[in-house]
Amino acid sequence: MEYVKTKIRDVIDFPQKGVIFRDLTTAFKDPKAIHILGWNLSQIYRDKGVTKVVGIESRGFICGSILAFELGAGFVPARKPGKLPSEVISTSYDKEYGKDTIEIHSDAITPDDVVVIHDDVLATGGTMAAVYELVRRFNPRKIYINAIVELSDLGGRAKLPAEAETTALITY
Ligand code: PRP
Ligand code: HPA
Repeated sequence: MEYVKTKIRDVIDFPQKGVIFRDLTTAFKDPKAIHILGWNLSQIYRDKGVTKVVGIESRGFICGSILAFELGAGFVPARKPGKLPSEVISTSYDKEYGKDTIEIHSDAITPDDVVVIHDDVLATGGTMAAVYELVRRFNPRKIYINAIVELSDLGGRAKLPAEAETTALITY
């Protein structure tokens, strides 16, 4: 993962002053880096019987889709409000720089599913905890949590339940 880390760009003061934004688009555009990401993610979950990957809008869609493909699982988008066309369940939450709401189609997951929730970055954990809470309402057999990058200073992991066995490929 050292190679991938070298491809992540630090953007100072984005989207507001005081934030160091870890920009993964520079890793996603690099063929070797995205290959390494897909391979490492799939290795973590290969033998866990995963049936659905929930990717969080928008950058969780990229490697979330690759992971679903690699595992032979389905892909479920967790989206910002008003984007999903059919009936949704939704919740609101605080994040590093503001408030937001997230939604999942109400028929997206069943109690038979084993789910991985995936996003590019785990920062304060507000987004991930909110999506975990939504997925938990479907009462699936198991919920795992994954982020490519964990910003450990922001303490997001403490908002997530231990039983989700949260994994991150790169920690700052
Ligand atoms: C970023 C990131 C995570 C979230 C992490 O997304 O991709 O989803 O923030 O922050 P948290 O742990 O403090 O909740 P953002 O809301 O900027 O949306 P985007 O991916 O659509 O740009
Ligand atoms: N990078 C990407 N997404 C984020 C970040 C970051 O540094 N902080 C909160 N969401």
